[in-house]
Amino acid sequence: MSEISAPKGVRDILPEESWKWAYVFRVFRETAEDFGYSEVHLPIFEHTELFARGIGDTTDVVEKEMYTFLDKGERSITLRPEATASMVRSYLEHRMGALPQPVKMWCTGPMFRYERPQKGRFRQFWQVDFESLGSPHPYADVEIISLSLEAFRRLGLSHLEVLINSVGCPECRPAYRKTLSDYFSSRIDELCETCRSRLERNPLRILDCKRESCRSVTEDAPAVYESLCGECRDHFDMVRAGLDGTGTPYRLDKRLVRGLDYYTKTAYEVLSGALGSQNAVCGGGRYDNLAEAIGGPHVPGVGFAAGVDRILMVMEQQECSFGTEPSIDVYGVALDRDSRAGILHMLDLFRRNGISADMDFGGRSMKAQMKSASARKARLACILGESELERGTVTVKDLDSGEQKEISADSIVEEVQKILSAVKD
Ligand code: HAM
Repeated sequence: MSEISAPKGVRDILPEESWKWAYVFRVFRETAEDFGYSEVHLPIFEHTELFARGIGDTTDVVEKEMYTFLDKGERSITLRPEATASMVRSYLEHRMGALPQPVKMWCTGPMFRYERPQKGRFRQFWQVDFESLGSPHPYADVEIISLSLEAFRRLGLSHLEVLINSVGCPECRPAYRKTLSDYFSSRIDELCETCRSRLERNPLRILDCKRESCRSVTEDAPAVYESLCGECRDHFDMVRAGLDGTGTPYRLDKRLVRGLDYYTKTAYEVLSGALGSQNAVCGGGRYDNLAEAIGGPHVPGVGFAAGVDRILMVMEQQECSFGTEPSIDVYGVALDRDSRAGILHMLDLFRRNGISADMDFGGRSMKAQMKSASARKARLACILGESELERGTVTVKDLDSGEQKEISADSIVEEVQKILSAVKD
């Protein structure tokens, strides 16, 4: 054990888990291709201003959770707490407005938020993030929601709940804020300390409070729908009609406001009962004013991000398949020093011919090497000792059936290929 461990809320993804992560990324990559989204790789840190202006100064993320530091040039830098602001920054910086719209991109990688760690909540966590930039059409929202659900379907997640709401736009939100503010003021005694302070600054955020006392107040809060302007209402109706048309079940949740300030119109989340209190596997929505907030022209956009750590937790709990566990074709077993050189050479030939192979360099006993072969889930063991070297052969043992035969060293690659393809058939 080292004296230094990973910081709180941060963890290693080790081989016994990493192949499952690779499977999840593979499924998202394939789904992205099927929906016409291209992968991009974005920086892990950005100028702090991007997030402060993009996500909003009064959000928990910007106020309390960012990993911000001065670099050696005294610039304020922040480890990205999410990818949407970066994606829009990249779209603007590379003048993607000149391309056919919408520009559909996705990325994956770690995000950083200084939150209190708990089940399903980490300080470094992974997201897959999908953004459709340049289209104001409600069907872009429907496509984004469908994409997330299709990926979850392919991963085998079950018992998910889709919540949707509209958070309006700068036209109609002030009226809704006023309505909410009047309502909450009338029940101020029942609100928690934090919500009382939210009343002035951002009454919408009260809707998000998880405290029991506040929840009973928010249950009767006026719904946003009544306050939406004509355009937002039409947009919301079309999103719902699109979801209905594709047979997507969802629940309207008037309390869904999301924790980031850039949302306009559609907001949605996908919840899993398998997760406890941190139950959102994915969240997203439309953000038509984000590009302007960071100094660009008007670029409508919609997207979502799904938490990979949480997806894995749900998949484990629901015993979903992760595809085939990694294994190797051949484990080379050497019985003495000379054979070890022979095995090294043979493995080189195997690998050049697409046969995956591994060996042990330590000169351990045959029994120990065979144990390693089964730990590595090898299909075959190729055994070389003094007598095989003399005869110019290799003993090939099928580790499933236990059968073994001696094969000429000259044709070992072809013979092993034949055995492996017969197994695969
Ligand atoms: P978000 O709701 O903050 O949205 O995060 C999206 C997802 O990331 C959550 O539903 C959850 O699965 C995962 N997540 C968030 N925080 C943590 C954490 N501390 N530990 C583990 N998982 C976490 C966004 O980030 C927006 N950028 C989504 C978006 C994209 N909206 C439009 N486009």
